[in-house]
Amino acid sequence: MTAPSGLRVVVRELAESPAEAIERGFALEPMAPPDPEALGADDVLIEIKSASVGWVDLIMASGQYQHLLKPPYTPGLEYVGVVRWVGAGAGDRVAIGDEVLVDGLLAGPRSLGAHQRWGGWASYGVAPAAAVHRIPVGLSFDQACNLLGSYETAYHALIARGRVQAGETVLIHGASGATGLAAVHLCKLLGARVIATGRSKAKLDAVAAEGADHVIALGGEISMRDQVKALTGGKGVDVVHDGVGGDISLESLRCVRFGARYLIVGWAATPTVAHGKGQRGAPNANVLPTNLIMMKGLDVLGCPAAISVVHDPSIRAPRFAQVMQWAAEGKIRPRVSHVFGLAEYAEAMRARWHGDVIGGCVVRP
Ligand SMILES: NC(=O)c1ccc[n+]([C@@H]2O[C@H](COP(=O)([O-])OP(=O)(O)OC[C@H]3O[C@@H](n4cnc5c(N)ncnc54)[C@H](OP(=O)(O)O)[C@@H]3O)[C@@H](O)[C@H]2O)c1
Repeated sequence: MTAPSGLRVVVRELAESPAEAIERGFALEPMAPPDPEALGADDVLIEIKSASVGWVDLIMASGQYQHLLKPPYTPGLEYVGVVRWVGAGAGDRVAIGDEVLVDGLLAGPRSLGAHQRWGGWASYGVAPAAAVHRIPVGLSFDQACNLLGSYETAYHALIARGRVQAGETVLIHGASGATGLAAVHLCKLLGARVIATGRSKAKLDAVAAEGADHVIALGGEISMRDQVKALTGGKGVDVVHDGVGGDISLESLRCVRFGARYLIVGWAATPTVAHGKGQRGAPNANVLPTNLIMMKGLDVLGCPAAISVVHDPSIRAPRFAQVMQWAAEGKIRPRVSHVFGLAEYAEAMRARWHGDVIGGCVVRP
């Protein structure tokens, strides 16, 4: 057996909340390079260079996410690295030495098959060949592991569900976050006008630098509703992209035009919607008033990017191909504000949990 030369993070038990998970739920363990003799013919062995630290990694570790793994497992939904070994049956799409990203829906904790346990917060990962793709030219390792999850989610919400058109105005909440900033980038690619909201003036300056046409700092003297109305000539926005939930969702229903589309993407402001520790049920679920939905003729659209693929696998290939193509053309450049060593995984999670991050956050093994 090969001596441990690497490290991996392991979730030991599901916590009650992300904050508790960060403090008590994880362990850092030595990791030996996987023995190729023990891998499948279709497998690819990757030396991991960078892995994203996302909101979903947090709520999965507290058992509040819809897709749960039984501990112990290694977190890290999205990772990238260098190919070190390729199985005899894996074909010739990738070769030893290639710099690759791993499709988190086919390998790692968010996948459904045999490669779930190979998360990205580790020195080595193993993925089936179908999950392994060369990194689009021009993307760094840190950018490449912040590509698919966020931009595919933005694609699913804005394009597949929201059918955003050039010239429309989109109100994006949590715009400094991973999915929010991806939505800002995609809206600009589509030719839409962006009004971005957030709690921090400094982060909103960064969001404006990334392309948002207007930013609204929440909690000021003028309400969000009045500011949106002023920016839209009193009419209201065409589309809301809501990854925040809670009070802002209710206020948003009052600053949309008749017939607007309301995209439900997530609940960053209400992370305790579901019980912790993997118990089911959502005692604190967000609720929207049907009177406003009815009277304003709204289309309220749920936008689960991963679950939608389970129900209709045909939506994945065009979405994946478009995101990879935009990245290869230089039209998508994920922003990564925080970089940590793997041993600093708890600090990385705190940065994400406390909302310090703009766009992406990574750990580097
Ligand atoms: N639909 C899907 O398929 C899908 C995919 C991935 C994630 N999600 C969900 O989408 C939501 C956002 O995910 P993300 O990856 O973009 O998270 P993120 O990177 O942590 O960003 C969330 C943003 O929400 C804002 N926010 C507002 N109120 C907040 C509060 N009380 N606590 C923390 N943040 C708050 C923050 O911006 P400011 O500090 O600027 O206000 C923060 O940057 C999560 O609920 C996640 O589970 C959904």
